[in-house]
Amino acid sequence: MKKATAWAPATTANVNVGFDILGYSLASVGDLITVEWDENTSGRDEIILKTLNNHTSISDQVLKNTASVSLLSMKNDLKLSGTFYLSIEKGIPVSAGLGGSAASAVGSVVALNALLEQPLTKTQLLKYALDGEQAVSGGRHKDNVVPCLMGGFNLVVPGVQPNQEDSIHPLPTPEGLASLLFTPDVAIKTSESRDQLNDNLPLKDHTKQLACSMLFMAGLYENNHEKLRNSLQDIIIEPQRGPTIPLYFEIKDYCLNQNGVVGFGISGSGSSVFIWLKNEKQLISRISEEILTMFEQNKIKTQHRLCEFDNEGAKIIGMS
Ligand code: HSE
Repeated sequence: MKKATAWAPATTANVNVGFDILGYSLASVGDLITVEWDENTSGRDEIILKTLNNHTSISDQVLKNTASVSLLSMKNDLKLSGTFYLSIEKGIPVSAGLGGSAASAVGSVVALNALLEQPLTKTQLLKYALDGEQAVSGGRHKDNVVPCLMGGFNLVVPGVQPNQEDSIHPLPTPEGLASLLFTPDVAIKTSESRDQLNDNLPLKDHTKQLACSMLFMAGLYENNHEKLRNSLQDIIIEPQRGPTIPLYFEIKDYCLNQNGVVGFGISGSGSSVFIWLKNEKQLISRISEEILTMFEQNKIKTQHRLCEFDNEGAKIIGMS
């Protein structure tokens, strides 16, 4: 029996200025996915979901679980046979806008890949991870899967280059900043949240959003915190999704009036919110405490996490 364990990081998608096309990977929060492969079970050719660390909201059916769907897709495509045992230890909260389904999908294919005699490249693994993401979120969204797999900040360019389907453009990660994340205790399903979005966009909103997005790119490449701060504005999605997140606008108002805060927005489709701020201990602990007090006063449960930008993406942390 061969065994590999992969760590796959949480991710923040959209980042205010890049709905469905921007995402970055978060260090220190992730899922652990273990694949055990017994090649000697001739005649039996199956995936067995072993542990789900007591997550009742995650499907234990092979065809409905993001990690096993990805594993199945890769195993079938590469014509691998035997019994595959899959264990999932969720470190990422579920339906929280932190790319939990993407991480489990990515982790399973990265773990299986480590057991192959001729491993595939990360780019080759992408399609299998997307099969898993599609099974639970209803779409082949790359803005979580790509940064989870590749690490760093990524722009997913949807089919605008000649003869090329979606391509991936790695971007610089901001220096001197960290992400402070709050996850209020409200489950938001990405597929349901997307169904409620308005398809029509007034031209003036398009122009303003485009200007913000372009200024943001300049800010990233120049590591110019002032430009990042001015540009991190979500004109289109925030007015629609903000009200679904407890205290969203109150926390936004508070954050954007603090020196040292560079940006605030919805992580993916929520319920998590991200705060980009200077990576300074005192500032971070003061802002964390003040926001926690706001949640407490409103009797809303929340989790919070401080994450650096991760540049590695999913990786193998154990093999036997
Ligand atoms: N961009 C997606 C959304 C999130 O906001 O609906 C995950 O891919």
